[in-house]
Amino acid sequence: MKSIWTKTAALPAFSVLEGHQQADVAVIGGGLAGMLTAAALRREGAEVVVVEADRIGGGQTAGTTAKLTAQHGLKYHQLIQTLGAEAAGQYARANLAAVERLRQLVREWSIECDFQDCTSFLYAVGAPGPLEEEHDACLALGMDVFLTRDTELPFAAQALGLRNQACFHPLRLLAALAEGLTVYEHSRVLTVEEHALSTERGSVSAERIVFACHYPFINMPGYYFTRQHQERSYVLALKGTKNLQNYYLGIDGEGLSFRSWGDTLLLGGGGHRTGENREGGKYALLEQAARRYWPDCRVAARWSAQDCMPMDGVPYLGVFADSRPSWLVATGFQKWGMSSSVIAAELLRDLALGRTSPQDLSVFSPHRFHLSASAKQLAEDTLQAVRGLSRQLWKPGRIPLEELPYGHGGIVEIDGEKFGVYRDKSGEIHAVTARCPHLGCQLEWNPDTLSWECPCHGSRFDLDGRLLDGPAQEDL
Ligand SMILES: Cc1cc2nc3c(=O)[nH]c(=O)nc-3n(C[C@H](O)[C@H](O)[C@H](O)COP(=O)(O)OP(=O)(O)OC[C@H]3O[C@@H](n4cnc5c(N)ncnc54)[C@H](O)[C@@H]3O)c2cc1C
Ligand code: FES
Repeated sequence: MKSIWTKTAALPAFSVLEGHQQADVAVIGGGLAGMLTAAALRREGAEVVVVEADRIGGGQTAGTTAKLTAQHGLKYHQLIQTLGAEAAGQYARANLAAVERLRQLVREWSIECDFQDCTSFLYAVGAPGPLEEEHDACLALGMDVFLTRDTELPFAAQALGLRNQACFHPLRLLAALAEGLTVYEHSRVLTVEEHALSTERGSVSAERIVFACHYPFINMPGYYFTRQHQERSYVLALKGTKNLQNYYLGIDGEGLSFRSWGDTLLLGGGGHRTGENREGGKYALLEQAARRYWPDCRVAARWSAQDCMPMDGVPYLGVFADSRPSWLVATGFQKWGMSSSVIAAELLRDLALGRTSPQDLSVFSPHRFHLSASAKQLAEDTLQAVRGLSRQLWKPGRIPLEELPYGHGGIVEIDGEKFGVYRDKSGEIHAVTARCPHLGCQLEWNPDTLSWECPCHGSRFDLDGRLLDGPAQEDL
């Protein structure tokens, strides 16, 4: 289930890291955050090495809808309530500047990535109150927003527009960023020390190490696994629909996302905490919605991806942990990684080069902790971790092996040990341990993606146990 981006970008291929390398900065991860950070450092003359576990652009960046916007759902009303107007203002200014910076970069480097200026919209089909609150919050922060009922959507809705935003082809941008960079692919980082990292066949020594690997895989220090969980969403690429000039995200009802790329409409939705889609049906729901609005449309591609959801709704960008001043991190993008990656790249570049950022970006500091803003999510995440562990330790299997239907996956107990078993459509059994190698929670089957997912922190594995997404770093 490849995304349209993967099918339509020619990404350069790089060799495996072998032997020992020396650099000023080593970047772990060749997604948008890692490649933008590496390019920003390279531009300043730093020696940078990017080390990627798989292929560049093979992670969540391949599954994005690539809306480049400072409009991150109903963000600003909530931020003003929880963190205050100053922090909300920092967040808004940083994201607005990020949109502009990427626009400038694309122009300056003449990058062919279908970059298109547009208006970003939130829409509501029900009560307009939340949109109006968000409108007032955005206006108070100086954002160029307006309320309207005039949209391109195929149904009536109230919408909140933010002018001067953009969208692009994420992997064509990545291909351009890769030019001139030293990148190693198929080189999973296994261990990290203060100034060095190692893979199976090589190592890099560097003054600074950047964790741009989506979810930091080192548990301590940093403890990022206690500060964020992951959520998954689904996308259909549709032909035979209307082409939209702008893009839209629903804040109520089905909460669908609409964005066009040429004559293809990307319809997104079905979000859930990773590990909580045992019943499946997310693609079917999206397809039903598509046919309701465009009965003759055709599904050209479908895929899903996930992102890290920080407890207080703000990414973690900066020094990884007090006890590791040479490590830097960019994570917790909450499905808004396009603008957040630009902020991360500039902030981490400045930190790596020992400069002070021109903007106050302390709202993103990984060292912050706001109990009032985080309490609800902290309680929910703790509950999920306790549930995941206790299911693994105490609860029996859910279904006897012989009762597992063809084309279904489930937790089966055999001789007191639990297995995740998928009986494929031809009847062949695929069995893996049901215990997540990250911290031991019980995995759950996702019938839409045919994969095992961990509800605790969101690691994923294919039906034969191969690692798909971290924080786990090994196969089942
Ligand atoms: C369905 C969906 C739609 C979205 N749409 C939007 C949108 O419209 N606008 C927006 O702003 N954001 C959007 N997002 C969010 C955005 O896609 C992500 O935030 C962003 O792509 C994350 O980029 P990244 O570089 O952090 O991660 P990734 O792209 O996942 O890159 C991390 C890389 O690190 C590598 N890696 C991991 N572990 C190791 C290791 N041990 N050693 C070496 N390499 C390692 C991985 O292989 C991967 O290539 C969306 C998210 C989803 C789920
Ligand atoms: S991802 Fe942490 S226990 Fe599974």
